[in-house]
Formats: sequence, C-alpha cells, structure tokens
Amino acid sequence: MKTKWIMFAAVIFSLCLKNAVLASNEQEFLWGVATSAHQIEGGDIPSDWYEFEKQGKAPDGSTTEKAVDGYNLAFEDIKLLKELGVNSYRFSIEWARVEPENNKFDEAALKHYHDLIVALKNNGITPVVTLHHFTNPKWIADKSSWTNKETANEFVEYARKIIDQNNNDVTYWITVNEPNVFLSYSYIFGNFPPYKKKDILVYKKAIENVFEAHRQIYRYIHEKNNKAQVSIAYNFSDFKPKTYRLIDVLSARICNYAYSWYWTDQVKNEMDFVGINYYFSRYVGLDYPFSSQYYKYTDVSEWNQWPQNIQPEGLEHITLMAHNRYKKPIIITENGLPDKDDDKRPDFIKNHIEALNTAKSKGVEINGYFYWSLMDNFEWWGGYKDKYGLYEVDYNTMKRRPRPSAFYYRDLIMNYQKNENLSLPTY
Ligand code: FCB
Repeated sequence: MKTKWIMFAAVIFSLCLKNAVLASNEQEFLWGVATSAHQIEGGDIPSDWYEFEKQGKAPDGSTTEKAVDGYNLAFEDIKLLKELGVNSYRFSIEWARVEPENNKFDEAALKHYHDLIVALKNNGITPVVTLHHFTNPKWIADKSSWTNKETANEFVEYARKIIDQNNNDVTYWITVNEPNVFLSYSYIFGNFPPYKKKDILVYKKAIENVFEAHRQIYRYIHEKNNKAQVSIAYNFSDFKPKTYRLIDVLSARICNYAYSWYWTDQVKNEMDFVGINYYFSRYVGLDYPFSSQYYKYTDVSEWNQWPQNIQPEGLEHITLMAHNRYKKPIIITENGLPDKDDDKRPDFIKNHIEALNTAKSKGVEINGYFYWSLMDNFEWWGGYKDKYGLYEVDYNTMKRRPRPSAFYYRDLIMNYQKNENLSLPTY
C-alpha cells in the first residue's frame, strides 16, 4: 500500500516537473530578422512615400516600383528564413495596399498577408506583424495625415480588419514602427512626407493621434486574445555626455528623455514588452543637435546620412534603463548595420548579442532579437546604397545570395539554442 502511494506521489511530482520545464520553454527566445513592406515589396502602390519617390524626391532618386520584388517573392523568401534557422520573422502590412481607397479593402491583398502568416507558422516561424511602418495611404495624406484626428480612427478601422482576420494566428503585434522617428522626420526635420519643418503644434497633434490609435488597437487585440503581446517599436539611441561636465551630463539626460522616455512613457500601460530598435549611440553636449563635431567616431557605420558610432554597450545600457523604468520584458525589434563588404557585420552581431547577454546576467528579461534586415532593400535615408542584408540582392535579377554573415548568424542561433550559455561561432 505504502509503495503504491510512493509511486503515485512520484508520478505527480514528475508531471509537475515536466510542466515546469514546458512553462519555461513556452517563452521561447525569438531569433529573427526584420523587414518592412514598403522597403521590399515593390508595386505601384498609392502611398505617400511612393508619390514622393515618383517626384524624384527620394534618396538618390530611386523608387520602390520594384524594390526587391518582396511581394511576389514573399513565399519563396520563407526558404531564406529556413536557411537562416530563425524561429520568427518581423514584417509589415502595407496599409495602402490593403486599403487603397477609403473603406475599400483589397481582398486579394488581405488574403496574401493572411496566407503569408499561415505559411510562416506552418514552417515553424512565429510571425511578428507590424501594422504601420512609416508609409500612409495617399488618401490619408490627402486629408492631412496624422495631424487629422480622423486618421487615428481610420487606422484603427484598418487594424481591426487585419486583426479580425489574423488574431488566431498572430501573438506578436507592433502597432507602429518608430513613431519618434517618422513623426519627427515628417513634422520637424521635413524630409519625410508631408515635409513639414519645425511645426511643433502640428507635431504634437500627430503624436497624440498616433498614441490614441495605438491605445485603441492595444485594447482591441487584448479583447480578442488575452495572450497577445502588443507594443510599439521605438528607435533608441544611447545618448552619452561628451565630457563629464555637468552641463553635458544634463544634455545627455535631456536627450534620452526627449528621444525615448517621453514617447515610451505615454503608453507604458499599453505595452506588453518594450520594442527596441537600436543602431548606434551618440555623444552629446549642450549644443546638440546643432553640431556633430563632438561625435566621437570610434567605429562607424556606412550609414548614408552621416557616420554613426557602433556601440554595442549602448544596447546594454538602453535595455538596463528600460528594464529599470518599466519592469517589462524587452524585444530587440531591429538592430543592424549597412556593410556592403560584410566585413564588420559578424562582429557587429556578435558584440550586440554579447551586450544583451550581459544585460540578461544583470536581470533584464530579453525575449527576442531581430536583425535588420533579412536582405538588402530600399532605405529611407540611403535608397539602395545602404546594404543591411544578410542576403545580398541583385537588383536586376532579384536573386538573393547569402553573405557570409548569414551563415554566421545561423550558427550563432544554433549554438545558443543548443546551449543557454554564450558560445559564439568563429568565422
Ligand atoms: C530604422 C527603420 C527601418 C530601417 C532601419 C535601417 O529606423 O525602422 O525601416 O530602415 O532604420
């Protein structure tokens, strides 16, 4: 009788143990790559950006008429993801493609994105879906874009359509990509449509409308699926004082607040994780942003607008700050380097992952890393000159060819998945 009880207890104990292990595996680290619709898809799409490009205003006069033919090759490109061994893919849905005219949805486009989501899942790849990545339909631009309150409602309507169709298949949603970048370039620096300069009042209105839309979509997704993970992907830069003078230290604090926390604080109750896009850090002083002479160029990227500091420890610092501020999990929704010769990219990836590992050892919960980008594409500031891709694209044949760093990233993922401890491949 006693042995029976012991056996019974042992069975219960082992079942509990099994569940505990499963639970810890449930939150599988997302190893991924990211793209956005406008940058890869191509096609004559009635969006504000495409209009702008047709007028020859885009960097190097290029257009996304063909881009890298990503719409037609979307299902083919899943093979690249498989080859990389990633378990997730962040991509965006082009609003102007699915709703080319107000309230007229394109069923074929809706089906395309739904089929893509299902195909990714069937291949063991978790889709991370971005609903807005910089571009707006032309009909939205024609009625003052985000400065118009109605745009928030129109965006929510479009988002609901996508969510209704896909919420059973999608857990991770990014409502808006880098509002801190796209709104600043649209209304302060004046080089994204609608090219307004230093229009603070309009800027403020646009910010309010974007956040209002985010909050509504956040709630809507959670009503449908309480397990969903919803956030915004912000651009972060680690602003550091160029000297230890109090005034410079203060400027760095102000810059970090104005660039990041001002934005993230507004939706701190409506984000399930902090989405961090990180590329470089900046040294600042009182005179920022009027002078760039204080940037300390140690190792700089080929980014076309101006050279930038490559600083993996900046990523560690940002994740620590975000963790202390919000106590929420973090996903690195973008991190990448334009490097046509592919000689700095493997180190870039390695060092940023190591920085995340250090942050993790200090108690930060990091649930994913997405390299930008799967393949070369149209870049907002550099056209086709900036080469971020793990895959190089021949713009004539649209053939994708892996750069050595694609294999490096693949091996790195494999090593991590086999062994929780840091064990980076050599190259
Ligand atoms: C980010 C954008 C992304 C890509 C990278 C290089 O700011 O979110 O689309 O262009 O820069």
